[in-house]
Amino acid sequence: MTSAPERPQTWQVCIACGHEMVETDPHPRCTRCGGLLEVDHRPLGPSRVDLLRRFTDRRGGGASSSGVWRFKEIVLPSATELISHPEGNTPLLHRAALDRWTGLARLLLKHEGHNPTGSFKDRGMTVGVTQAKRIGATAVACASTGNTSASLAAYAAQAGLPALVLVPAGNVALGKLAQSLAYGAKTLLVRGDFDDCLRLVEQAGEQLGVYLLNSINPFRIEGQKTIVLEALEQLSWTPPDWIVLPAGNLGNTAAFGKALVEARTWGLIDRLPRLAAVQAEGAAPFAQSFREGFARRHRVKAETVATAIRIGDPASYDRAVKAIRETNGVVLAVSDTEILEAKAAVDATGVGCEPASAASVAGVRRLVAAGTIGSTESVVAVLTGHVLKDPGALLAYHQEAEPPPPGANRPVEIDPSLDAVARILGSR
Ligand code: F0G
Repeated sequence: MTSAPERPQTWQVCIACGHEMVETDPHPRCTRCGGLLEVDHRPLGPSRVDLLRRFTDRRGGGASSSGVWRFKEIVLPSATELISHPEGNTPLLHRAALDRWTGLARLLLKHEGHNPTGSFKDRGMTVGVTQAKRIGATAVACASTGNTSASLAAYAAQAGLPALVLVPAGNVALGKLAQSLAYGAKTLLVRGDFDDCLRLVEQAGEQLGVYLLNSINPFRIEGQKTIVLEALEQLSWTPPDWIVLPAGNLGNTAAFGKALVEARTWGLIDRLPRLAAVQAEGAAPFAQSFREGFARRHRVKAETVATAIRIGDPASYDRAVKAIRETNGVVLAVSDTEILEAKAAVDATGVGCEPASAASVAGVRRLVAAGTIGSTESVVAVLTGHVLKDPGALLAYHQEAEPPPPGANRPVEIDPSLDAVARILGSR
């Protein structure tokens, strides 16, 4: 008599047609219908109490102390040889000035700019590059608006894998381009936008046999889930009312929804926070679809000062629709002016973030003003990248914009004399 084979611990499943693929299948999409893949795990063995203790105890040291791999059971249980910096374990910050600015009683900021390459991408990349090594990939590649490429370059270097990155020429923030070069990735400046880069890298991946590490890769999503898991842990597993995040290619929106639904299924939390995904007005196809009840998918020619989210045809659209629906979430768009004002407000508290990250804080202010978020509700806004990622946008705002915007802090050039210093101080 033969018994039914036991389900593997982890597998991949297509969210469009349900086709299942083994954990080690290297295809970036469903091999049957081309749909987006999701990683699924067998129900967890340990009890809730035991799991929570494991997550926290692992903070002791080594690769397992990473803010991603501490949550191994719900990220990638079967991984053994981890390519980890380590990453994660980012702070949950509070600044009273931002309560006043947004109109909330208390706004918490999950600052992902504290990751090793300065953005949340490291959480997905440690899992993606670990998976690349497990399946024997000989090279890795991505298209990027800058942060994914910086992160891939660093983790591929650590793993000893050649990395190919495609970025839109002239539209990548300086810090990010510098990182990609520094960490040794073969960097292609594509005369086109991010959406062109993504199309191109998917074709190249197929034909050149390189492992694709854009966020369509479901293992990236598993790593990015830990932003939410870690924030929940920092709140002693009492879920906030809202989690607000910037949205571009929609990988993170998808990851947050998946993390929350799984956390409830596993009994880690008893209710779901609502997600608010914030786009830039000039790059807001997802917000447009949301306003129409997701009746149809939009594609736009994107333009925004927040180059990280300058994306017109988000790849994780289907997954993100699911995330917004499952969390009773909202999607909105804020203007570049609102983004830059929010960034100046965040920066002036000493916290600092890149322009795209500030979209979340601009979004909170909008939602509070509209009454969608009540002023006493508990809110976590995610800051996705470090202030030094985009020195170009920062200096343009403070030094060059005419007339000076409200938050501008103009530097003053002086002769090397005490008189000149005294004159400036006297005029304050
Ligand atoms: N914030 C920052 C700083 C980002 O770099 C990105 C995306 C997002 C927000 C949006 O996240 O795409 O998951 O909706 N950056 C990608 C990149 C596209 O190539 O670095 P998303």
